[in-house]
Amino acid sequence: MSKLDTELERKLVQRQEENRLRTLMPPKNLIDFSSNDYLGLSELKEIQDLSSKIASSYPFVLGGKGSRLISGNHSIYGDFEEWLAHFHGKESALVFNSGYSANLGVFASLPQKGDRVIYDSLSHASIRDGLRLSLAGSFSFKHNDLNHLEDRLKQDWKGNTIIATESIFSMHGDRSPLKEISGLAKKYGAEVWVDEAHATGIIGNAGRGLVDELDLSQEIDLCIHTFGKALGAHGAAVLSSNIKRNFLINYARSFIYTTALPPSSLADSWAAYTYMSGSEKERLSLFANVELFSEAKNNSGPIQVFSGNGQNLSRVQSALEESGFYAKAILPPTVPLGEERIRICIRANHSPKHILSLKKLLKSTN
Ligand SMILES: Cc1ncc(COP(=O)(O)O)c(C=O)c1O
Repeated sequence: MSKLDTELERKLVQRQEENRLRTLMPPKNLIDFSSNDYLGLSELKEIQDLSSKIASSYPFVLGGKGSRLISGNHSIYGDFEEWLAHFHGKESALVFNSGYSANLGVFASLPQKGDRVIYDSLSHASIRDGLRLSLAGSFSFKHNDLNHLEDRLKQDWKGNTIIATESIFSMHGDRSPLKEISGLAKKYGAEVWVDEAHATGIIGNAGRGLVDELDLSQEIDLCIHTFGKALGAHGAAVLSSNIKRNFLINYARSFIYTTALPPSSLADSWAAYTYMSGSEKERLSLFANVELFSEAKNNSGPIQVFSGNGQNLSRVQSALEESGFYAKAILPPTVPLGEERIRICIRANHSPKHILSLKKLLKSTN
């Protein structure tokens, strides 16, 4: 074993001893309360058929063949991006290979040296990784804490200020107070950028997201919509101005230095978007199921959290599995120490019987 491997192994053993070792598991044949396929679209035959129809109206190419700037800019890209910009009411859209690479590209390239990004402390790793690559200053504000955000905004700053947050937080499931954040941004002359990953398809008119639901499309300067969660597909788009789009094409390294997504993947996302925006029934079922699980009407979303009463949550996860349910224990470093939780993702296609059984099981572990 090399010296490096010995050192790496020591770290892994330490992680295992702390009960935090991540491992890849084969798929479990259990009732799934862990995936982000909130509307249950990922296996829908109608979407598969629609995707084939869209794909067949373009020349067939198996893969991206090259980066978008070299040979991968298949004609479906421009058409889908135009559709997305129109759907979300923004000047332009730019597709990225994933939400991770969209956030990496946006936060690493758009804020310039001398600018600052003030971001919610629970922002997704992809936002924080982008900021680590950025030349701009970055400062977190306490999760959803408007007073702390305003304290940050009051601090003198010569360059541009960008406030970054998510619509629905991926590990907590709560919503960002976007209306108030937008008000503060106006007061202090800041831009607001919102990652809509867990809101796309779920809230807003025809699933346009939280920005749309709060009628803030004109106020929010940039949104990231991902295709891999409620849309059940893969990829992401940045919705913003033409200038920001052109800047990303020129400077976002996660856009430039990678092979374009295959056209079939765009056809899948386009089909899922088309279906999702035209069908309310999944959203209605989803929110009926959320209500059944959470017994709360207001502001509750598909991501529900079970924190337990100091129980070992890995054991709770195993107990759920023995009863046929899969919901994942989220442990540090994904969440801070002391904030371990079982993350329960409610879906439109869960049966009420399964939701009630899971609820009962969780209660019995308390
Ligand atoms: C808030 C948020 N943004 C971005 C991403 C990354 O998106 P993708 O899975 O498409 O890379 C995720 C996924 O976990 C997320 O939860």
